[in-house]
Amino acid sequence: MGYDMNELPPRFWQIFFELYESLPRQGPGNRDCVARVLALCRDLPSAPTVLDLGCGVGGQTLCLAELLPGAIITALDIHVPNIERLRATVAVRGLAERIQPMVGDMAEPRLSPASFDLVWSEGALYNIGIEKALHVCRGLLGAGGYLAFTDAVWLRDNPPPEVKASFDLDYPTMGRVSDVLTAIERSGFSLIGHFTLPDEAWWDDFYSPMEVRIEELRGKYGDDEEALAVLDQLAQEPAMHRRYSDYYTYEFFVARLVNLGEIGECDSTPPRKCGPIFDNPLIEGL
Ligand SMILES: C[S@@+](CC[C@H](N)C(=O)[O-])C[C@H]1O[C@@H](n2cnc3c(N)ncnc32)[C@H](O)[C@@H]1O
Repeated sequence: MGYDMNELPPRFWQIFFELYESLPRQGPGNRDCVARVLALCRDLPSAPTVLDLGCGVGGQTLCLAELLPGAIITALDIHVPNIERLRATVAVRGLAERIQPMVGDMAEPRLSPASFDLVWSEGALYNIGIEKALHVCRGLLGAGGYLAFTDAVWLRDNPPPEVKASFDLDYPTMGRVSDVLTAIERSGFSLIGHFTLPDEAWWDDFYSPMEVRIEELRGKYGDDEEALAVLDQLAQEPAMHRRYSDYYTYEFFVARLVNLGEIGECDSTPPRKCGPIFDNPLIEGL
């Protein structure tokens, strides 16, 4: 989750970033979801230009590079240490020719208009507001380009006070799936499909490593009361999800810059490992 930089003290941010920068991902998501989305992007060229907005340390960027072996990927994030970590990973894995990490603000990305075949963003567009973000993405995509993004959405009304307070702080304008679909349509995109992230996408690469790391940091900050209080606060997020995940979720949305007519597909069934969505010849390793 994001937090309002202005409302919390510097010590909070020091420990927040120490925790988050060390995780494989900074939000929910996993490789299966990346593969599932790519299978919906049936007309991607064999060497697509891809932009990953709000890439974090690049959890999904690396999946994209693996699953789209011809792709050239620009990975942009506003937080410098995330990009430094991704640069180091890219160098170690010999991917410097294919992944270009860059520091930037997605609100003003300073990238050539209409220069991408696929704009990707997991858990990040909401930082500048979905409507504004869709407008930015639209300007960056070439004709027929695909947009794939996740966004947090409510599943039920009347959330418990703890859940409401958390999202009031982090994402006060959060809506339901239908609100995002309306925004997609209003922004001139054609919906290709959408699906709810499975439970393991919250835990395997995000909350489980987060809980392990919080324990390590509790050891590191042994008698530092202030640090321990911040860690207690950060530990509330996975604990809240364990209790109340039926109130909110992450949804993956896939849209395109053309009116696809009959090609358009609205897919909201659980992920599966067979059938046409896993038959895209451009995707490796399915
Ligand atoms: C919830 S994290 C998701 C990171 C990554 N996509 C993932 O799923 O692991 C949101 C990311 O958006 C980045 N971010 C926030 N505002 C941004 C902005 N205006 N421009 C670029 N990146 C931004 C944050 O630094 C953070 O890395």
